[in-house]
Formats: sequence, C-alpha cells, structure tokens
Amino acid sequence: MNADASARAIDAVVRTRTGTALAANEIERLVADFVAGRIPDYQMSAWLATVACRGLSRAETVALTRAYVTGGETLDFAASGRVVLDKHSTGGVGDTVSLVVVPLVAACGVAVAKMSGRGLGLTGGTIDKLESIRGLRLELDADDVYRMVDQVGMVITGQSAGLTPGDKVTYALRDVTGTVDSLPLIAASIVSKKIAVGAHGVLFDVKTGAGALIPDRDRAVELARLMVEVATGAGLRCRAVLTDMSQPLGYAVGNALEVREALDVLRGREVPGLTDICRTIAELMLRSADPDLTPADAERKVSGILAGGEGYEQFVRWAVAQGAEPAALEEPDGLPTAECRTQVVADRGGYVREVDPRAIGTAAMNVGAGRFVKGGSLDYSAGVVLRHRVGDQVAAGEPLAVIHHRHGVQPPIDLVKDAFQLSESAPPSRPVLLQVI
Ligand code: URA
Ligand code: CA
Repeated sequence: MNADASARAIDAVVRTRTGTALAANEIERLVADFVAGRIPDYQMSAWLATVACRGLSRAETVALTRAYVTGGETLDFAASGRVVLDKHSTGGVGDTVSLVVVPLVAACGVAVAKMSGRGLGLTGGTIDKLESIRGLRLELDADDVYRMVDQVGMVITGQSAGLTPGDKVTYALRDVTGTVDSLPLIAASIVSKKIAVGAHGVLFDVKTGAGALIPDRDRAVELARLMVEVATGAGLRCRAVLTDMSQPLGYAVGNALEVREALDVLRGREVPGLTDICRTIAELMLRSADPDLTPADAERKVSGILAGGEGYEQFVRWAVAQGAEPAALEEPDGLPTAECRTQVVADRGGYVREVDPRAIGTAAMNVGAGRFVKGGSLDYSAGVVLRHRVGDQVAAGEPLAVIHHRHGVQPPIDLVKDAFQLSESAPPSRPVLLQVI
C-alpha cells in the first residue's frame, strides 16, 4: 500500500460522491494504483459503489474504459489487411446467436474475431457451448488468433488472461460488492475488452426482459447507447440491437443442444425467434464492414449464404482448423447426447403466454448445463429443448418441452411446466428485434 495513492483514492471517492468530475488521468491513475496493489480493496470498493450510485459522465466512462485496457495485451489485425469485426451479447438463456452469426458473416467474406466467456449464472457462455465439440481448442494465443483469421476468416476463443488487467481486478471486486449492475461500469468493462481484442468494429446485442442482465427496457437502451458512444469514441465502427430476452431464444437451452441448433440454422432451418435475429445481426455486421452495401444487398447476401449452407461449411472448416475432430460434428453420434429424455406435457390446452427464461435457465442448470460454483463441471449433453414458444397454441397432453439429462439426475418437471403460462386467447406477437441503435 502507498500513502499518496490512498490519499488520491479518498479524494476520488469524495469528488465522485459530490459530483465533481475526475480528469482522465486521475481515473487512469486510480485504476493503475489498484492494479499495482497500491490501494486496498476497500478503497476501490468505495469508489465503485459511489459510481454505482452517482454514475459517471461520458468522458469519465471513456477514461475508465481506456484505463482498463492500459498495461494489458492488445491485438492488432492491421497486418491481415482486412476488416475484422467482433460481436458481443450481454447474455441470455438459449442465446445461440454467436454460433450462427460468426460463421455466417465469415462465409459472406467479412472476418470475425471473437473472444468469449463462460456461462455466468443462468446465462450460458459461448466457450462452454463450444467445449461440447471434441478436440476444439479454445485457449488460443495471439499468433493462433491471427492465423485463424488469415486462414479461415474467423476465430472464437476464450479470453486471454493478459487482456484488460484493470477490468479483471475491478470485475472481481464488483462481483462481491453488489456493483455489477451499474451502466457506466458495465459499459467500461465490456467496451475495454472489445478495444483490447483489436477488431475494427463491434455489434452489440443488448438483451432486455426477464432473462437479461438489464431486464428494464429503458435502462437496456441506455446501456446500448452508452456502449455505442464509448466504443465509437474509441474509434470502433459500432451498431447495437436491443433484443427480447423475455423468453429463451430459439428452442434449445444447453451446451451441445445449442450447438446442434446453431448448425441446423446454418443448414437452412428456420428456428422461430433465432433464425431471423441471426439474419438481422449478420446484415448489420456486413453493412458496418462495407458502408456502401445497401440493406437489400446485405439481405440478399445473407439469404444466399444460408440457403446454400455455406455458413455451415464455414463452421466446420473453422472448427477443424481449430482442432475439432471432424467426426465430432457429424450426426447422430458426434456431439454429446443425453442418456434420458423426459417430456413435460401441458395439463390443459391454450395459447402459450409466457415461457419464463429464468425458470428454463435454472432447470437447465439443475440437470448439469450450467455451474453453481466457479469451475464446476458440466454435462454438455444436458439441457431443455422447448417444443413451444410464446404465441403457440397447445392441446392438453401435448409436450411443452423435453428435458435432456443423465440417469440418476432428477428432471425438474414442475419447474419447466411452471415456466409455461397458458391463456385462453392468443397473446400479442412478441418480436425478438426491438430496436436498432
Ligand atoms: N459483462 C462484462 O464483461 N462486464 C460487465 O460489467 C457486465 C457483463
Ligand atoms: Ca437457443
């Protein structure tokens, strides 16, 4: 610990509390002091808690974002000579979009580099899903990342530990001090990682609704705008979409189940709620890579690739280049499959009015698709496959969902059944895409 650094930290807390903006270099120094261990956890916690209550200005948020990146590893795709994009979701239940969109956009000729995380609570993580593919390597170093982009036009890998040291240490503190839920802190945390990854642009998919990080729609819009502003300020080409997470996305929830669903979409299957949003996001990404592309051109291109199965071929080419056993992607035995399938049937008929994403996410976790403790092991084959989504009509005795699980694991039938609320009349239709920002 260091007396000068402590005095500066106290000053920062008081000024943030009283609404006096900090200069960029003051924020930079505060974060650097914390990363270097010159100030204790409790002083940084006090500042983060003050920010969570009082907020930060745009300029302060940009400064915090840059401060998180300082001193860490950063990638640079200049040598590849092509536009490289990234895509980020704030996370949801059954959110299979990245597994579809990354190969889809790459098959359209625009490179995508994505560093993903593991599941967090109810929200599945892309890395966990991809680990269900035997042999696939998900801890790449910078040279591997550049090589994948050059050779196959895409890469998905876990987060390198050397990226954004400031975010790493403050995120750990936020997690245990109730300060995750703060828009400037979330924006700085997410955008700093996008800057470090070095892509030229990023598409943010901000979820809203019961299963989202930010359930409230107005706050989710505010987060989306803030991330676009901060990332644009850092020189990235950015778009954001606000999407619905008031029910699981698509049908599949669970690691291998979602990989299979993504591969189905890439082979041309229309999965309600999933295929359309993947198209929209892919089209926006193509247009940010090439600003001359019209919406109609982008739509034609994405439709052509989906119809021709080239996104699927791209996925397989990428996975094999990154170490997957070719047989791991072949049906029916490639991906892990569950020992048991238990149907959950409707007690009465009606229209599906709600499918609570938290209940479905919890049910999937209960059978082994998610972790209750950090580092816990997963059953990649486990999860829940919905048979119906909001708006569907069902008859009494008809399956609502199927739980995939191991022998000896109790399927949470009531939890899944209670996630479904039925009504006499058809509810209003619920689009996935709410807004483009
Ligand atoms: N995801 C992040 O990476 N950071 C946050 O602060 C919240 C979600
Ligand atoms: Ca899904």
